[in-house]
Amino acid sequence: MNGPMTDTIAILGGTGAEGFGLALRWAQAGVSLIIGSRDAAKARAAVERLKEAIPAAAVEGAVNGEAAARAAVVVLTVPLVAQIPTIKAVREKLRPGTVFVDATVPVGAALGDRIARLVTPWPGSAAQQAAAYLPPGVPLVSALHTLSAVALADLAHPLDCDVLICGDDAAAKAVVSRLVERIAGARAIDAGPLENARFAEHLAALLIALNIGHKVKHSGVRFTGLAGL
Ligand SMILES: NC(=O)c1ccc[n+]([C@@H]2O[C@H](COP(=O)([O-])OP(=O)(O)OC[C@H]3O[C@@H](n4cnc5c(N)ncnc54)[C@H](OP(=O)(O)O)[C@@H]3O)[C@@H](O)[C@H]2O)c1
Repeated sequence: MNGPMTDTIAILGGTGAEGFGLALRWAQAGVSLIIGSRDAAKARAAVERLKEAIPAAAVEGAVNGEAAARAAVVVLTVPLVAQIPTIKAVREKLRPGTVFVDATVPVGAALGDRIARLVTPWPGSAAQQAAAYLPPGVPLVSALHTLSAVALADLAHPLDCDVLICGDDAAAKAVVSRLVERIAGARAIDAGPLENARFAEHLAALLIALNIGHKVKHSGVRFTGLAGL
């Protein structure tokens, strides 16, 4: 299987906490996946781990560049420090029309500071920073920040969480919203243009601080009180 797969999600950094948690939930929903890594053997090990949890999973492993070349939707789940290097490493492989999803929360831990403090990338948000490094024709959608890795990995417990979707390409946002809603208990909310991604990123840092402060392992967030939702 070498050609692009139109209904497949590649998760760059899918070997880590957040990416693997998303892979578990999407695999559970029958979504076809490629787990990306800098290291092919590490990707294969993650595939084995996923298949132990979900034997019927439609999942393969690949190095990040190959994964990015073969999927219709590419989800980036690497720490802030790895965000730009990972995009630079794969961007020539991205086909026009690929939807690129950034889940980066630019937490202070990237600089050795506290996890619940934010750093502000020069363009104003991690998502806008990612967008600046993508080739033309590859829309960036900011999403997934409120889905905690711990909650995603706990398959025995259903999620109950809203996911803010920010971006400037309506069609790409619709694609990502549908994929978010393949995850049982996750609801996609259109949160406006890409410049609003800073709010989603800040909110995620606040949730981390609240969870730490209240010694909650993980919690979902709902915006049901907002008008029109
Ligand atoms: N954890 C959460 O609950 C959560 C929730 C929402 C959003 N996020 C966001 O999701 C992203 C990933 O978080 P995580 O907790 O999953 O992180 P993580 O487990 O520390 O790292 C994820 C993957 O990124 C790759 N990576 C790590 N360091 C790297 C480096 N220096 N250079 C290149 N690649 C590197 C690794 O993949 P390979 O070694 O296989 O290449 C690793 O498995 C972060 O931006 C975070 O803000 C996390």
